[in-house]
Amino acid sequence: MNASCREELLQKIEEATAMVQRRIRIEPEVAIICGSGLSQILPTEDGETITWNEIPHFPLSTVAGHRGDFWAGEINGRKILLQRGRVHCYEGFTIDEVSFSVRMFALLGIKTLIITNAAGAINSDFAVGELVLITDHINFLGDNPLRGENFDRLGPRFPDMSDAYSSRLRTLAKEVASSTKITLKEGVYIAVLGPSYETPAEIRAFRTLGADLVGMSTVPEVITAVHAGIEVLGISCATNMAAGIDPQARLSHKEVIKVTKRKEQELGKLITSILQRLPS
Ligand code: HPA
Repeated sequence: MNASCREELLQKIEEATAMVQRRIRIEPEVAIICGSGLSQILPTEDGETITWNEIPHFPLSTVAGHRGDFWAGEINGRKILLQRGRVHCYEGFTIDEVSFSVRMFALLGIKTLIITNAAGAINSDFAVGELVLITDHINFLGDNPLRGENFDRLGPRFPDMSDAYSSRLRTLAKEVASSTKITLKEGVYIAVLGPSYETPAEIRAFRTLGADLVGMSTVPEVITAVHAGIEVLGISCATNMAAGIDPQARLSHKEVIKVTKRKEQELGKLITSILQRLPS
């Protein structure tokens, strides 16, 4: 992508952001991205809902179980922008489209991103349905949302990723999990393109690389957030053991959604309690 295309993209993000700004009554400080089947994790009564098809230039998702809207309002006294659903590279979207909303968050002045997803468990210490704090990631997508001319207004050319999943937010999440008696494991997330699930041989290879979880999202959004100076907390719901971990098991999207639905309430409780104690 040449420099003028990059300029054009930034202009589109600005137009989309301006529309959202006109519609909402708060200045959001925290954004929360709800992954597959996790759109109902938080209570959303008083606030504004903006469906993605109302927003100029916004990429529109095609996957069942992915609602496409933003909700802006207050939860536990914090000003929140909730993103219900996301778009993925496997749907054919470019990595810039996948990261579009996070760049909007940056322009909106959002300082913290809580990102959730459904993931396959590579680590056999994890059980189906467990929540896992993402400690770090491996980008196996073969692309990066920062490729191309840098958006100097948003962040540096070569951002440091040493603490991408903020250690202070992870400490807070672990304290909250322990005080609310929610099991929260920890692990490294590897992002693959999909949409086919992995082969058992791939999962063995990823385990050797140091991955505990595998999924098809999150990494583009996190790189984009870190670039823009947004602090990130990532939580996965382990919806299935990854391919080959249980040789008899077979993977299906239906099962993934079923498990996330079962865990929605617990994840919601964890996030609301984290919001209560989040430093401002
Ligand atoms: N692999 C990739 N993505 C996933 C999986 C998986 O096993 N489960 C949920 N999302």
